[in-house]
Amino acid sequence: MKIAVVGTGYVGLVTGTCFAETGNQVTCVDINQEKVQQMQAGKIPIYEPGLDDLFQRNTQEGRLHFTTSLKEGIEGAKVIFLALPTPPGADGSADLKYILQVANDLGPILSDYTVIIDKSTVPVGTSDKVRAAIAKNATVEFDVVSNPEFLREGVAVEDFMKPDRVVIGTQSDRAKDLMSRLYAPLVRQGNPIIFMDERSAELTKYAANAFLATKITFMNEIANLCELVGANVDEVRKGIGTDSRIGKRFLFAGIGYGGSCFPKDVQALAKTSAENDYEFKILDSVMKVNENQKTKLIPHLAKHFKGDLAGKKIAMWGLAFKPYTDDIREAPALYNIDALLELGASVSAYDPEAMGHVKQLMGDKITFTKNPYEALEGADALLIVTEWPQFRTPDFDRMDSLLKNKVIFDGRNLYELNQMQELGYTYYSIGRQT
Ligand code: UGA
Repeated sequence: MKIAVVGTGYVGLVTGTCFAETGNQVTCVDINQEKVQQMQAGKIPIYEPGLDDLFQRNTQEGRLHFTTSLKEGIEGAKVIFLALPTPPGADGSADLKYILQVANDLGPILSDYTVIIDKSTVPVGTSDKVRAAIAKNATVEFDVVSNPEFLREGVAVEDFMKPDRVVIGTQSDRAKDLMSRLYAPLVRQGNPIIFMDERSAELTKYAANAFLATKITFMNEIANLCELVGANVDEVRKGIGTDSRIGKRFLFAGIGYGGSCFPKDVQALAKTSAENDYEFKILDSVMKVNENQKTKLIPHLAKHFKGDLAGKKIAMWGLAFKPYTDDIREAPALYNIDALLELGASVSAYDPEAMGHVKQLMGDKITFTKNPYEALEGADALLIVTEWPQFRTPDFDRMDSLLKNKVIFDGRNLYELNQMQELGYTYYSIGRQT
């Protein structure tokens, strides 16, 4: 099938590349000329494990193309994915200007029946707006479908190729048929395509992300309580996660969720609710708790150093909002850096992927090191922010020789309490005893 993908951000590029991998002819359209030239020259503009291999294969085998021209990109395409940014506006709701601009532009240039698919996370009712914008100038029949994505950064290729489910919002049989054919190679294991109306599909995306953010936040609150009552959140997690109604995943307590999705989507869902005169109380709590959770270890740090962090050097392991990504949007690391600098401490940080982005943002307010150990040289304490696997089994002897004090503040519970005790560390973690 010939398909077009408008927008080559994270979602668009994964969608385009993966559909090329299943044999389709894909053209990705983007207004950013430099980016398009870069991709035409075989360079992938984002970091996502496994994507580069597929990108190279499909460009070389002639199934994946790039252009800045919308008209050229959609020529002969039976389906057009819109994977455009929906940044939060000043009032917290998703800004639809990019999507509606493309919808306006598409109307006059559609030359045959086409399915236009909203892939971006968009507020309930957006498909109606897109339909109306296209219809103003369209001379052919078309359908607008809502097809939210459930890709996690770092495992997006796997999530795309082996989805738990595919959600498709449309009431048109013609569109259902095309979408079923397109997704057939990805649902061969019996994972379902769930058809529903457009509004339910749009809400499904927000409900999924808000539910997961709530699940994490609930565990973070249990962790906070564990610290006060002398319990261990890891044991509680195992105790409840084995109940299949609760499930094992997304129960890991830590210093809060971040990224480009959960914070934005929880906020947008609260906004949609308010607009419909409904106060979604859980969401307000989730946002408040998560905000506090991010810098939860700072008061412990301050207390450990008797309220005086001035001149102290804190080593930071991890900057990205989670492992296997260079993404620092809403990353707890940024909030912790600000708090530490504010208290007069200095920070030397290491992250395998995200240092470039933090440097761009903060310049030389903090120092960056070539490896995790260099960050520890002469540091008064270590603060662990992101659970990169390489931090899980470090060389503790080497750490001892570099750190000034044997003290670790661990925002991701990487180590066992008894191990830390045996090694003689003062160890603060989340939801466990010090
Ligand atoms: C999330 C969803 O998981 C995807 O299904 C969705 O498609 C995507 O948002 C999106 O809307 O585009 P992502 O933001 O890439 O994906 O990251 P997750 O792996 O879901 O992690 C989100 C945050 O939760 C991270 O900060 C992570 O550290 C935190 N987290 C996750 C926890 O604190 N505890 C957990 O047990 C799991």
